[in-house]
Amino acid sequence: MKSFDTALLYVLSGTGNTFRVARWIESLFEQNGIKTDLKFIENADLPEDFKHADRQLTTLMFPTHGFMPPWSMIKFLFKMPRQKKAKALSIATRGAIWIGPLKIPGAAGFANFFTALVLLFKGYDIRGFFSLDMAANMNNLHPSLTLPAVNGICKKAKRKIEFCMSRVMAGKRLLFTLNNLYEGIVTCLIFWLIPIFPILYLIFAKASMAKIMFANNNCVSCGMCTKICPNQAIEMKSFFGKKRPFWTYHCENCMRCMGYCRKKAVEAGHSYILLHTFIMAVPVVANITTGWTNAIGDILGINNDWLMVLVEALYYIPALFLSYWVFWMSIRIPAVNTIFSFTTLTHYFKRFHDPETRVKSLVKRQKKKDIIKTDHEDMILNSNK
Ligand SMILES: Cc1cc2nc3c(=O)[nH]c(=O)nc-3n(C[C@H](O)[C@H](O)[C@H](O)COP(=O)(O)O)c2cc1C
Ligand code: SF4
Ligand code: SF4
Repeated sequence: MKSFDTALLYVLSGTGNTFRVARWIESLFEQNGIKTDLKFIENADLPEDFKHADRQLTTLMFPTHGFMPPWSMIKFLFKMPRQKKAKALSIATRGAIWIGPLKIPGAAGFANFFTALVLLFKGYDIRGFFSLDMAANMNNLHPSLTLPAVNGICKKAKRKIEFCMSRVMAGKRLLFTLNNLYEGIVTCLIFWLIPIFPILYLIFAKASMAKIMFANNNCVSCGMCTKICPNQAIEMKSFFGKKRPFWTYHCENCMRCMGYCRKKAVEAGHSYILLHTFIMAVPVVANITTGWTNAIGDILGINNDWLMVLVEALYYIPALFLSYWVFWMSIRIPAVNTIFSFTTLTHYFKRFHDPETRVKSLVKRQKKKDIIKTDHEDMILNSNK
């Protein structure tokens, strides 16, 4: 007997992996007579979606980012209504790497434990949680896996989904599993090595990884990246009569813009980061702050390491913003842009997005007002051809 009649799949996906998994689950549920509503979290209708929560299974699906759920999923979790015993499931996709015979699984670490804990505090009945290997998509750090590798990973993932969902539909819980033992060990290691790692990562990624993204000279100013970004994190800005994308702090590094831009124009500025770290920031911070800290320490009669950290932060944060600004201004000059483009690894990386997920599917469920019809809409529609 089924333990629920309807299913609500709340999905967050950057490069399409999680959305593909959600489609597998949707079709499995439908085959078993379970009416399923697949929704991107930005389209959630809270609390309307929970009107009949007693016979519904609510599933949260998201990519792992730094062993945690991405920021938007965390915010969404906190917005979800309190429930009395509504059934809930959490699935984090993670990035596996297959290079020839080398097969490295991903690790979701604290991601599912975090969602399950929050849902538990909100009164949900946790039916289970598990992580699932899909192709690694950190395209700002590594090139796309080959198509056979991606297909191999997906085949394995689909089998696991079929197995796990048959158990969920049969009313079994997926809590004390080998998968969760593995993730538990990873979580303990992370917290043991760097106790605040997940929070640090989330802050670091928002403050730095997004800000090194830029468009190279191949950019044709089509604006597609602004429309497909799930966080509306890209703005088109003009310079010398040309419009170019500008990455704001809303970016969560989901890699969608990089993976789907047809012109392969989105880059991550590796050479800029090196320049910033080793030429601009570190020596300047070291020289200035050592002098400042000693002087302030002398005046106040304090010789405290924490004061040093504070003064460094007071200097470093504005210096970081200034550095981003200089970078952003300079890459608008074509010659400088060329230098930064040719000296970043991403320029030589093959781009990744799930081969079966067209960008059209990722945006089609967005609110109508967000899908502005433009002359370039065909680029959105055809971008995955
Ligand atoms: C910024 C970022 C951080 C990531 N962190 C992890 C991680 O900690 N562990 C892991 O196994 N995979 C990690 N991944 C890989 C993705 O979780 C994985 O490829 C996922 O399936 C992508 O799903 P999507 O295409 O739906 O966005 C990361 C990917 C990105 C872009
Ligand atoms: S999608 Fe690519 S080509 Fe179009 S504006 Fe964005 S970066 Fe430029
Ligand atoms: S700007 Fe690109 S990487 Fe950042 S959230 Fe938007 S689509 Fe994802």
